[in-house]
Amino acid sequence: NPTRTSSRPLQQQWSTRISFILAAAGAAVGLGNIWKFPYVAGENGGGAFVLVYLVCIALLGVPMLMAEVLIGRRGQQNPVNSMARLAEEAGARPVWKNVGRLGVLTGFLLLSFYVVVAGWALAYIPLTASGSFAGVEPARIGQMFDGHLQQPLSLVGWSTLVLIMTLGIVGRGVRKGLEKAANLLMPMLFVFLLILVGYATTTGHFDTALAFMFEPNFDQLTASGVLIALGHAFFTLSIGGGAMMIYGSYLSPGVSIARTSILVAVLDTAAALLAGLAIFPIVFAYGLEPGGGPGLIFVTLPIAFGQMPLGTLFGTLFFIMLSVAALTSAFSLIEPAIAWLIEKRGMSRFKASVLSGSGIWLLSLGTVFSFNIGADWTLAGKTFFESLDYLVSGWMLPLGGLLMALFTAWVMKPDATAQELGGDSAGYRLWRVLIRYLVPTVIMIIFLQAIGIISL
Ligand code: PFF
Ligand code: NA
Repeated sequence: NPTRTSSRPLQQQWSTRISFILAAAGAAVGLGNIWKFPYVAGENGGGAFVLVYLVCIALLGVPMLMAEVLIGRRGQQNPVNSMARLAEEAGARPVWKNVGRLGVLTGFLLLSFYVVVAGWALAYIPLTASGSFAGVEPARIGQMFDGHLQQPLSLVGWSTLVLIMTLGIVGRGVRKGLEKAANLLMPMLFVFLLILVGYATTTGHFDTALAFMFEPNFDQLTASGVLIALGHAFFTLSIGGGAMMIYGSYLSPGVSIARTSILVAVLDTAAALLAGLAIFPIVFAYGLEPGGGPGLIFVTLPIAFGQMPLGTLFGTLFFIMLSVAALTSAFSLIEPAIAWLIEKRGMSRFKASVLSGSGIWLLSLGTVFSFNIGADWTLAGKTFFESLDYLVSGWMLPLGGLLMALFTAWVMKPDATAQELGGDSAGYRLWRVLIRYLVPTVIMIIFLQAIGIISL
């Protein structure tokens, strides 16, 4: 039975189940948790939004995550080859390998703007550490962020640094690169998060934050808020971008996909909630706006750090943590392209890393310029960055996720999926119902709503 032993060399497999969990949690926990989740929750009224988000993670996110990991583990190759192999096994048409291609492309496009935002986080480490925000008035801190965005060369420098760090790790391969980095960085990230939550309790506004995040007020929740919660649930778990598929392909047979996927989802959710609990008490303590938008982290927080006791120290810790979170996700976004170049085009890992890194670097310039010299190159009122984010997060990730769900639910033989998921148990049957009916229905509804055919 070819699926029971891995066809990959040992250096290309996670050495333990924990390593896979940490690497996959590294892929999941990223800018989505610490930068995006708090501000979208803030903009959508808090509690009720958080509740919908949690339901989406549990009922849709977890089964989809399992589907994507399952394809990777059974396919044992890069997303394109894995899809081709499983389509053949199921007696389906080879067109399904385009789902793998879509995943590789999605990760590639997403990384091109992810490195730019990660670059802001990296730039804010020395800025905070040098006390640049200490005692500075709020308006001036807002100007500092805007000023930072106005300097294309500096932005390029920081995003290039993010990319070089990413390639430096991914270039070393699965065991020596991805696994080693995740084993070191992920525990560190959670320790820093807990320290920051502890610090936030000293502001005296922790209760306000708890109420804001966990007391649902359904008046504040709109239909578009529900859609945002749903889209964010996919984004935050890294579903549909080929990342979890390639990480799954390095997972040895015999490890429970259900248990590990649930754990990854729990860690990702914990990171988002802890980030909220670290950020909102500070925001409320200084009378700032929780719905501060994308600038919440880069303007609102520095304002607060500038006034708090030990703000320089904890502010620095915060931006280190944000950078670490972004970096471990960046690894997972480039790995599908690299594995594809190695396995399909026969390149060395070094060559594949340099080539895909160069492509991402070139494309990242579009995002960099959209904040300054290219601010008015717009399409339907959206800048290059906004268009790319909308295309990837709003369309490509959900479409990739939908196709992977349909493939495992309706194309693969039940025997094959049952074998990967450890047999025909009650849990397996629940997964199958969710992935066959609930997931496709809900994603179709989002698409119809987005095209304007139905309105919620
Ligand atoms: N899950 C990451 C985050 O929350 O920041 C973003 C992400 C990474 C999305 C990898 C998709 C992906 F394939
Ligand atoms: Na996430």
